[in-house]
Amino acid sequence: MAYNLLKGKKGIIFGALDEKSIAWKTALRCVEEGAEIVLTNAPIAMRLGEINRLAELCNAPVIPADVTSMDDLENLFSKTLEHFGGGVDFILHSVGMSMNLRKGNPYTDTNYDLMHKSLDISAMSLHRVLQTAMKMDAINEWGSVVALSYIAAQRVFPDYNDMADAKSMLESITRNFGYQYAVKKHVRVNTISQSPTRTTAGSGVKGFEGFIKFAEKQSPLGNASADQCADYTVTLFSDLTKMVTMQNLFHDGGFSFTGISHAVIDQMEM
Ligand SMILES: NC(=O)c1ccc[n+]([C@@H]2O[C@H](COP(=O)([O-])OP(=O)(O)OC[C@H]3O[C@@H](n4cnc5c(N)ncnc54)[C@H](O)[C@@H]3O)[C@@H](O)[C@H]2O)c1
Repeated sequence: MAYNLLKGKKGIIFGALDEKSIAWKTALRCVEEGAEIVLTNAPIAMRLGEINRLAELCNAPVIPADVTSMDDLENLFSKTLEHFGGGVDFILHSVGMSMNLRKGNPYTDTNYDLMHKSLDISAMSLHRVLQTAMKMDAINEWGSVVALSYIAAQRVFPDYNDMADAKSMLESITRNFGYQYAVKKHVRVNTISQSPTRTTAGSGVKGFEGFIKFAEKQSPLGNASADQCADYTVTLFSDLTKMVTMQNLFHDGGFSFTGISHAVIDQMEM
């Protein structure tokens, strides 16, 4: 069901890799709600070609950008400004990657070059996006920026590896840049802390299947799906949430505030 919540709004969606991606679902949902969008992803992800299918469905141009490259980001914003004939109203940062995690390097025996890359791609990139947008005045008054986080920013999930540190930094950048952008142009910046979700990035985490099943039992409402995450993101891009900024918003079926659930206790007693 669509409510025209984003009618007349324009935005950039980072991170749609395939139809499982949170960004993919969000792109479709934004268009359904009346928005016009530009899609972007790393040049390497373009080679999979899937994003062109989404571009057709959304009637959106695709502008490649590696989030660790300032040149790419400047190019993305200048082409987007040209395409829309003005600034954007929302940005989804749905980007994350850890080679330490992918290679199975233990957290206590990390490769620091790879850790640096994890932090750059998954956290500093939000700063790069916001700084570039601010310098180019690319986000309209009362615009909204959402990035995706995970509860490993606050609690220990041992196999989440250096992505836990990246998510802590991402949430910190959200607060600190969120302050600056609110004062300067009423732009709001938030993270959504999403339930574990079966996507390419999610499934890279060791023991992911056990982990997602545990979260399902521990959450009073069950795990939030990628489609539900897209719905929630739309509300944050809409004018109904104008005074929400610098927040980390849990979208996890109640997982974050549950000490233990009956479903988990029952499992332990078996
Ligand atoms: N899947 C989960 O369980 C889960 C839970 C909470 C938060 N998240 C977060 O949601 C976000 C989206 O992940 P997803 O689960 O949809 O997986 P995904 O693999 O579909 O998306 C990750 C995206 O990051 C992009 N990316 C990687 N390196 C890049 C670079 N250098 N430049 C530009 N883009 C780059 C990939 O191409 C991909 O599109 C990530 O921040 C992830 O950490 C995921």
